[in-house]
Amino acid sequence: MKGAKVTPQIRPPEVQNFIDVTLALMAGLVSTPEAGAALEGIREGAKQVGPQTPRRAGRQPACQHLGDALIRAAATDPRLAPLCAAFSVAEPLLEWTGEEESGLAPGSYAEITLLGPGGHEERRDIWLGLSLLAPHVRYPDHNHAPEEVYLALSDGDFWRETSGWFTPGTGGTFYNQPSVRHAMRSGETPLLAIWALRRV
Ligand SMILES: [Fe+2]
Repeated sequence: MKGAKVTPQIRPPEVQNFIDVTLALMAGLVSTPEAGAALEGIREGAKQVGPQTPRRAGRQPACQHLGDALIRAAATDPRLAPLCAAFSVAEPLLEWTGEEESGLAPGSYAEITLLGPGGHEERRDIWLGLSLLAPHVRYPDHNHAPEEVYLALSDGDFWRETSGWFTPGTGGTFYNQPSVRHAMRSGETPLLAIWALRRV
């Protein structure tokens, strides 16, 4: 149709599978009512498919740590193995970003925003993505209006202003209230974590 704007609203099957596997696993791992309710809403929201924004698949320098992080995750907690496998299949289709925006040194940080503002799928209601920190990196304090559930796929420490530093461990989950300031830092090994957010 002349002049019509084509907005593909079909997720690649590899990406759809990663979303399904990830959100189902997170829903099974969360341990608080707030996190459970958030995951329920995010899973419901993810049934709707938004406009797919063309992104250029590609890695950033920090991704040199990705293979190590995925192998450690699956070996440390076998419950994470299906997620790691699904991610490995989807990852070649995805664009890593975040190094410049984070203000960290080159090679320190990379992230993928699958769902969410500026992501592969432009959304304003839910977010889904993951962060990768090279060893010995502290990600800056930040906050945002949506509530957030994290799944740690590695060792590493997390901070929120209401509780200080804590270490959920590989396979650990936690919930951040809307607008609470939070941060993360890696130790001897890379930090890999998934985040799922919902506007409330
Ligand atoms: Fe966050």
